[in-house]
Amino acid sequence: MKILILPDPAAATATCVALIVESLIENPKAVLGLATGGTMEPVYAGLLKRARAGDVLLDRMTSFNLDEYVGLPPEHPQSYHSFMRERLFAPLGLDPARTHLPRGDAEDPAAEAARYDAAITQAGGIDLQLLGIGGNGHIGFNEPSSSLASPTRVKTLTCATREANARFFGPDEAVPRFAITMGIATILRSRHAVLLATGAAKAAAVATMAEGPLSARCPASALQLHPKATIVLDAEAAADLELRQYYETVHPQGQEVTLG
Ligand code: GLP
Repeated sequence: MKILILPDPAAATATCVALIVESLIENPKAVLGLATGGTMEPVYAGLLKRARAGDVLLDRMTSFNLDEYVGLPPEHPQSYHSFMRERLFAPLGLDPARTHLPRGDAEDPAAEAARYDAAITQAGGIDLQLLGIGGNGHIGFNEPSSSLASPTRVKTLTCATREANARFFGPDEAVPRFAITMGIATILRSRHAVLLATGAAKAAAVATMAEGPLSARCPASALQLHPKATIVLDAEAAADLELRQYYETVHPQGQEVTLG
């Protein structure tokens, strides 16, 4: 795990955007795994800015999002389809045929999950998988107790996750109880995993992920098994790391240091 600690959320976000941009410059046809959630909003705003500035082209990439709520059709305002469409796909005029999310309104969600997993494999696998982290250590919607060998499937959301995500829904709207999510095994197959966490509310989950035991109790700890995982943090999200000083020695200010 490469742990990069940046002074504030803006710097952490910019680092994360730079990793995505670098990957697309290296391979404009890269397959990106995309994430949703509040942490990702400034990431997509930053990516949009870089694309509009002409630093990077996104029209040849393919994307697969991590998850979608079961029961929400793509046009539902709180669906992850809408989240992505509004923040990235529509402003860039991306071809919907290249930007994939699981269909929350599929008649058979389990079959849709299996189809989605197969579609990722058929696209050649994910080059760069973007991830956030839930306060309980979930990645995608892989809640605690998720099998570390899980494929894309339907998961029941915890009360904590539904409460955390209620802020995106109206006061009289219920947060769906189920989601289709890429599995932990699906995420671990990505060639590079980039997890971004900002803010004090993520500090405990980040420490358990990076320094706790490999355990289904904290699904993000599965990234300890990933051959190339980059964890991008701001100072607050890094606050509970016991080995923080070591990470800051290896990557001062979250920067790469050339050997020799
Ligand atoms: C949701 C998403 C996750 C995301 C998490 C944290 O549950 N399924 O992919 O990482 O929220 O979101 P936030 O960035 O809003 O804290």
